[in-house]
Amino acid sequence: MTNEPSSPVCYGAGADDSYMGYASRDEILAALNELLEAERAGARVALASRKSMQDVRFSELMRIVRADEARWCAMLSRQIRRLGALPSRRTGAFYGRAMDIDDPRERTIFLNRGQSWVVRKLDALMPRVRDEVLHANLRKMAEKHRTNIDLAEAVIQEAG
Ligand SMILES: [Fe+2]
Repeated sequence: MTNEPSSPVCYGAGADDSYMGYASRDEILAALNELLEAERAGARVALASRKSMQDVRFSELMRIVRADEARWCAMLSRQIRRLGALPSRRTGAFYGRAMDIDDPRERTIFLNRGQSWVVRKLDALMPRVRDEVLHANLRKMAEKHRTNIDLAEAVIQEAG
């Protein structure tokens, strides 16, 4: 035994994740909070749209999207707390921008663009997350977003 650590492996659980190519705790928390604010915005857009959209195809789509966005808000909040931090209570600026669009089809197109942004964020984040539980949750979130993007795309085409 010497006092000098011979390799990063010797640091064990204390190893700095950023040294290993993984995102640091702060980076992960920042990304999760950004996603949480985006999902909260999405949930609020879908809820308001569901109430106001007359076309049943749009309102049914918004019901599904709203349920999923709320689910991811809960998951992200849980994961942030698990990391010992407080979840952001803010709503992403996306909400106001989406609600400025009155036409149901145009708003849905805008919402889908937001959902694609979330998928890109998740795809960039996942390879940098070592934590298996968090990784599995983010993967589910990305998969379901892809499903809902396709579903919305079908409604957009149909209503065009
Ligand atoms: Fe979303």
